[in-house]
Amino acid sequence: MIANLATGVILIAFVRLVVLLVRSLRGSEGVRSLKGPRTSSRLLGYEYDLSRQEDVGGLESQWVREYGPTWRISGAFATDVLMTADPKALQHIFHKSAYNYGKQASQNHMGYIMSGPNIVWADGEVYHRHRKIMNPAFSTAQLRSFLLLFQAVGHKLSEKWKAELASHKEVEVFVNRWLSRAALDIIGAAAFDYDYKAMDEADESALAKAYHGIFKDVNFRLSKAELILRASWDYLPFPILKLFAYVPARTFNHVRYVKNLYMTYGKQILGEKRSEVDAEKRAGEKDVVTILVKANESSDEKTRLNEEEILAQMYTLTLAGHETTATTLTFLLYELAKNPEYQARMRQEIREARTRVLARGDIDFTMEDLDGMTLCLNAIKETLRMHPVVTQIQRVAMKDDVLPLAHPIVTDGGQIVTAVPVRKGQVVNASLAMYNRQVMQLPAMTIKALTYSVTGFPRMSFSAGTRACLGWRFAVMEMQVLVAELVGTFRFDLPAELESGMFEVLRGPAGNTMFPFVRGKVEHDGAVTLRVALAS
Ligand code: HEM
Ligand SMILES: *[C@@H]1O[C@H](CO)[C@@H](O)[C@H](O)[C@H]1NC(C)=O
Ligand SMILES: *[C@@H]1O[C@H](CO)[C@@H](O)[C@H](O)[C@H]1NC(C)=O
Repeated sequence: MIANLATGVILIAFVRLVVLLVRSLRGSEGVRSLKGPRTSSRLLGYEYDLSRQEDVGGLESQWVREYGPTWRISGAFATDVLMTADPKALQHIFHKSAYNYGKQASQNHMGYIMSGPNIVWADGEVYHRHRKIMNPAFSTAQLRSFLLLFQAVGHKLSEKWKAELASHKEVEVFVNRWLSRAALDIIGAAAFDYDYKAMDEADESALAKAYHGIFKDVNFRLSKAELILRASWDYLPFPILKLFAYVPARTFNHVRYVKNLYMTYGKQILGEKRSEVDAEKRAGEKDVVTILVKANESSDEKTRLNEEEILAQMYTLTLAGHETTATTLTFLLYELAKNPEYQARMRQEIREARTRVLARGDIDFTMEDLDGMTLCLNAIKETLRMHPVVTQIQRVAMKDDVLPLAHPIVTDGGQIVTAVPVRKGQVVNASLAMYNRQVMQLPAMTIKALTYSVTGFPRMSFSAGTRACLGWRFAVMEMQVLVAELVGTFRFDLPAELESGMFEVLRGPAGNTMFPFVRGKVEHDGAVTLRVALAS
């Protein structure tokens, strides 16, 4: 089979090169007329260099400085990829003309292999069915009902760290591992009313270990052969694509292992909840699992999910819902360790709020209390802006279109343009990371915008428009709760021997996401340690 696949890939490369030759005879227009870096690799374009950056965004910032926020770059098989961080172009792609820009197999098929037909993978009508069914589970009212549950997990994490501090003045904690476990338990409890026991089992939790760092395990530093293999997916029909689930390579083996492991959990959860739904014990519940079981029993095709789809959603929500928040919080605590003064002011804000809570006879923060913590919210916003977990999003034009620009650019021929014509099939890469860095020049948005509207800054960290993050409010609320709990209780410092400025947490590139790792220690499972002590 491998030999067949290899032949297939070579064939695609050949056909692409012929197309390219013909096109180069036609001269430059549209995307081809844009400025951009020149690569020597016809087969891989910049894919390899981008995937080998030490810190995500280094190359892109250089290009933004050189060409402006919209430029041309070579992708695999000598394709021209349109790169943009332009606000108007992004608004067009994600809001105004979202239905004209679809997903591509090279980007989303790995998601299918990992879990099956899930909402992040889906496109077109299938996607609309998935999103419509799942939306109610993420309504504001539904989320508010999770507050106590988030707080319980936060307290539990605090207790774990306090126990270690009982006999030491301070301890070095693998913060991202613990945050990842806490976030896994939170998504299990909130979405599936199920205890994944990631915090209780700690190092013994097979599920936590399998999921932790999965973006890295599946997408980090792929070999050239594998990059080419995955790029070839854009040219293959779905029945052939499905065969790639069986490729005997390291990344694919790992993907199969995690899938099998998750499916045992997923099936057990489903079995339990299905009998509760059938016995009307979950009447009135609108959590994810109740909604999924009911969708399976729906008599209307438009609101029905089959068992494979349900399990795929459960796997995907578990993944999308916890490594993302854990990574964001890791960077947040790292930034606070670097800025002890801001950290101290945040702690004061949290403690003053706590005093008010106790004075009125309550036990814990309400949502209003949390929304009133301006310094904490700003820390969350700023972390999302500077360290977006999803660094870029790729889309493909489904028909000829014209992409409007807020920032005019100069073409190769010296012409100033305010719009770029794109042809059907044109691949567009939206750089969320670069967009976020320009946002600084925009007027500061109010907290209200962050809490209640996905169009508010820092919108692009959660994407925008119809396919914006389904769990963005969930994520913000979860982070508000955990920040109040952890920063209110503990002090975070950079590791002792490395305080001299050597210690740096970088963003490792993994497909269109990034993961945190300590400079020079990427092989070390991307584990980030900080010194933790009880705050006085
Ligand atoms: C800081 C945390 C998070 C960040 C930065 C984040 C970011 C994103 C981004 C950028 C997308 C768009 C991806 C694309 O179009 O290719 C997305 C989609 C999605 N996210 Fe999140 N996410 C976070 C947390 C969560 C949580 C907690 C959940 C669930 C509880 C979740 C569930 C989803 C789902 C289901 C989608 C697919 C939405 C669709 O295609 O309609 N995310 N997320
Ligand atoms: C979903 O429906 C199918 C077919 O009706 C059934 O075999 C399966 O057990 C159902 N699964 C769940 C989780 O309800
Ligand atoms: C385009 O975006 C995708 C998704 O983020 C990424 O994997 C790929 O490397 C990018 N390609 C180029 C040439 O920028």
